Amino acid sequence: MQFKGTLYLPGDKSISHRAIMLSSIANGKSIIRNLNDGDDLQSTISVLKACGAKINRINKTIEVEGVDLISPNKELDCGNSGTTTRLVSGLLSSQGLNFTLIGDDSLSSRPMKRIIIPLQKMGCNISSSNNVLPLIIDAKKGTYPIDYKVPVASAQVKSCILLAALGADKPSTIQEDILTRNHTEIMLSTMGASVSVQDKIITINPLNSKLSPIDITIPSDPSSAAFFAALAVLNDDSELTLNNVLLNKTRIGFMEVLKKMNCHLSIDNKQLNNGEEVGDITFSTSTIHSTEIESKIVPAIIDEIPILAVVAAYSNGVTIFRNVEELKYKECDRLHAIIHNLNAFGINAYEKEDSLFVEGGKPDKLAEIATFHDHRIAMAFTILSLTSFGKYHLDNKDCIDISLPNFFNLIKRVAK
Ligand code: S3P
Repeated sequence: MQFKGTLYLPGDKSISHRAIMLSSIANGKSIIRNLNDGDDLQSTISVLKACGAKINRINKTIEVEGVDLISPNKELDCGNSGTTTRLVSGLLSSQGLNFTLIGDDSLSSRPMKRIIIPLQKMGCNISSSNNVLPLIIDAKKGTYPIDYKVPVASAQVKSCILLAALGADKPSTIQEDILTRNHTEIMLSTMGASVSVQDKIITINPLNSKLSPIDITIPSDPSSAAFFAALAVLNDDSELTLNNVLLNKTRIGFMEVLKKMNCHLSIDNKQLNNGEEVGDITFSTSTIHSTEIESKIVPAIIDEIPILAVVAAYSNGVTIFRNVEELKYKECDRLHAIIHNLNAFGINAYEKEDSLFVEGGKPDKLAEIATFHDHRIAMAFTILSLTSFGKYHLDNKDCIDISLPNFFNLIKRVAK
């Protein structure tokens, strides 16, 4: 099959969550265009509405009228969304609220100790059994400042603390070993908060006045773009251009990896949008080389490893992804899910000491995709199956709605 054309993908999921959350506590009306249309965003919107947020869709635009959020009178259902859970925990704590977070089976088995510890140090009273959801957080006394070194490379944990620190009475500092996605820092400072970064230490001041509202067109999601990048590079006579994609360095590690794998890509029309770089990216048919991916780049490709593992399946050697243990704590155990599906399609892949090894070759067995109800596993292996067999069978299509409900239509639009 060939894939040709130009696509304008929905907004970045991470920036969309932050735009809804921060505009909910801003001083006035924010305008948000190209919001990510997946189910995770609906979780954030319904959680905040239960706390009094005023969020309305007017045609394709979302208008958010900033308010003083209030403690909800029901449990807050975060659905499948780790970003909702961890960021909302910080945001609502900064507002001095009392709330209970719940989620679906996948979210209810994901680790929350990583936010419980810093939030407790910031004075929140938290109960949870086994450090998983439900989390009952009482932050009625407000939050204390903190100086904290984040022990895992996680933007969700960093953002939880940054947001909680907005409600303290003195500055806080947060240190990370490897820079993770920094959209919270960028958006907070665009909206008037005082945040500075030096040598991987972020200093954040409490809000002494409300955030300014924001007017933003959310850049297209690079994590969604990665699936179409793979479609273009893996298929003969193919070329896809993806417009207005977020180019934040903490997010486009997959493009560096693709370049190392000998993939053809080019970027045009670079611009700045509310502090974030965006541009148009063109990917075309390439001969894939194997590569070794070092642990320091892992945070910048964390959500793209499933699709990069699929690209590696078509290479001329063994591709190694070093230190990818964090994959085990995503919407499913992605390390297991990647290996399971690659093996099912006839590719030798295995785990050794938290690194993933993929022996390139040719997927030669048509298998049913075991999604483990994980959107990114479903999409990555749909690309593999389409590329090698021109068809796909998924054990669950609906999970794709989490981040890119229009996935199959977008593929149809560029299939020639
Ligand atoms: C996200 C951070 C990452 C990423 C997730 C979105 C965010 O999670 O995997 O899809 O928006 O902050 P971790 O911070 O847990 O690595």
